Amino acid sequence: MVNKTALICGISGQDGAFLAQFLLSKDYKVVGTSRDARASSFRNLVRLKIREQLSYESMSLVDFRSVAQVLDKVRPDEIYNFAGQSSLGLSFQMPVETLESHALGTLNILEAIRFLKLKTRFFNASSGECFGSTDLSHANEETRFHPQSPYAVAKAAAFWTLANYREAYGLHACSGLLFNHESHLRGFEFVTRKITHAAANIKQGLQQKVSLGNLNARRDWGHAEDYVRCMWLMLQHDKAEDYVIATGKSHTVREFVECAFNAIDLKITWHGTGVDEVGVDQNGMTRVCVNPDFFRLVEVDVLLGDASKARQQLGWSCKHTFAEMVNDMVSKDVERLKVKS
Ligand code: GDD
Repeated sequence: MVNKTALICGISGQDGAFLAQFLLSKDYKVVGTSRDARASSFRNLVRLKIREQLSYESMSLVDFRSVAQVLDKVRPDEIYNFAGQSSLGLSFQMPVETLESHALGTLNILEAIRFLKLKTRFFNASSGECFGSTDLSHANEETRFHPQSPYAVAKAAAFWTLANYREAYGLHACSGLLFNHESHLRGFEFVTRKITHAAANIKQGLQQKVSLGNLNARRDWGHAEDYVRCMWLMLQHDKAEDYVIATGKSHTVREFVECAFNAIDLKITWHGTGVDEVGVDQNGMTRVCVNPDFFRLVEVDVLLGDASKARQQLGWSCKHTFAEMVNDMVSKDVERLKVKS
């Protein structure tokens, strides 16, 4: 049997790395792209010890020529796209780059598949952010979009472009409406890794407290390893369709903090309100404070998804619980600091 070839656009991030690891375990030939593959350190692939098992191409998703050249050279069976500006907070400061990287980037992949007449199956990473705040009702594939940031608008534009190409040209293309998914490979700009990294630093005596924004924001946090498995299942399904990928449970940032600090034996209690609120440990030390600089221009208060369709049609389920994920992130951050020191 000939091994399948997968092209992962945006290989440097958390999802690209976990998906590459998963596909290698299934004997795929994996090609990763980044804007400048020769200059990239591929740190996450190094951490998973798979860097040497992949090959790499430089590709800019906003440049059609570059996309078409790479697709023509690699002729992949499957494409997974994670590229683009992925920080919601930053998207308010970089709306044009955010829109271009997602909307134009996705369009260029679709156009290149069509133009080259490839039989490639295409997965695009969309976002639960397309729904806007879900107010504790679970969003599913039928829920209307109400994007509340330039990032969410860009993801929604890419979602509808892909749906149009599937309908108009019969491409095997699908979007995963991904709710938040985390791991020890997550970037420090995201709240979960910021918290687990701070907890590890505090345990090692390298930091005293962490400053956060909205402690009451509620997110549906799953583990990235579970989510990449679902992406692959989507492309193995004969009919190309869109799926919500979520755990169906939500937690506040405050609960995430409590769980992470519990993993280093600190019990956090909360005092004060609003910007004066602080999290204090059992020894009376302030470990968390609120900094309005981290508030969003428009906050999505609650994000909660319903992945029943993925469970029923693809047989997918989450293997990691919330508490296991948080504990694992903290312990990996502690280990990393020990190795460094
Ligand atoms: N980043 C950050 N930093 N967020 C904070 C902080 C802080 O100090 N304090 C509170 N928060 C709150 C944010 O206001 C938000 O409500 C929540 O924590 C989660 O923020 P992020 O971790 O930055 O993730 P996100 O929810 O904005 O976006 C992530 O999930 C989306 C899917 O739901 C990203 O991965 C997106 O790319 C993804 O599409």
